[in-house]
Amino acid sequence: MTDRISKEKIAAHLKTKEFGQEIHFYDRIDSTQDAAKSLAERGVQEGALVIAEQQIQGRGRMGRHWSSGKGGLWFSLLLRPKIPPTRIPILSRIASQSVSDALRTHLGIHCKIKKPNDVVVHGEGNIYQKVSGILIETSIQSNQLIWVILGCGINVYNRIPSNLKRQAIRLRDIVDLPLDRNRILAEVLFQLEKNYRRLLKNNKPAVVPNPPSV
Ligand code: BTN
Repeated sequence: MTDRISKEKIAAHLKTKEFGQEIHFYDRIDSTQDAAKSLAERGVQEGALVIAEQQIQGRGRMGRHWSSGKGGLWFSLLLRPKIPPTRIPILSRIASQSVSDALRTHLGIHCKIKKPNDVVVHGEGNIYQKVSGILIETSIQSNQLIWVILGCGINVYNRIPSNLKRQAIRLRDIVDLPLDRNRILAEVLFQLEKNYRRLLKNNKPAVVPNPPSV
């Protein structure tokens, strides 16, 4: 792994207007979700990004632990969408689709979405292996969405624990290309911002026929 994550390198690749324009980088943190929540509670604006080289207590959906060692992409994005809370699942759908779009356009990797929002690739022996997961956490008051923390984990160079090796895979094992996490992140944020704006404008999910769910 030679691609150090830094605010400067991310900024150099960013093509977004708002997402990632404010970056909080940590070498080591419990969970980027908690740091992003603190920002949300302090009134920080939409698009602020928290990213860490390593999480000590990374969490996944359903209260599961999320293995987040050095070499992965672990980040949380603060959103303040003006949509009813009933539409929150669409946000996670958009997020996984955006990761998939970014991996296809930037690295030529064709992923599928495994419901509800896992980004997977077709592995050996006709199994699907997870390359990325999405976690959405929210604050709702009087049936109004106050903030959303969109957490995303992408396996890049990080070590996959041996008990997960059948279910999970890293980008490093899929493509034989030098990988720059700063660029991958910038591409994901670009796709995310595009799909998110489209959702807010049309008030319906972006229609992207590819990739199909499995
Ligand atoms: C899942 O598939 O269960 C969701 C995994 C989400 C992991 C990311 S990594 C960055 C952010 N911080 C966390 O603690 N979790 C999310």
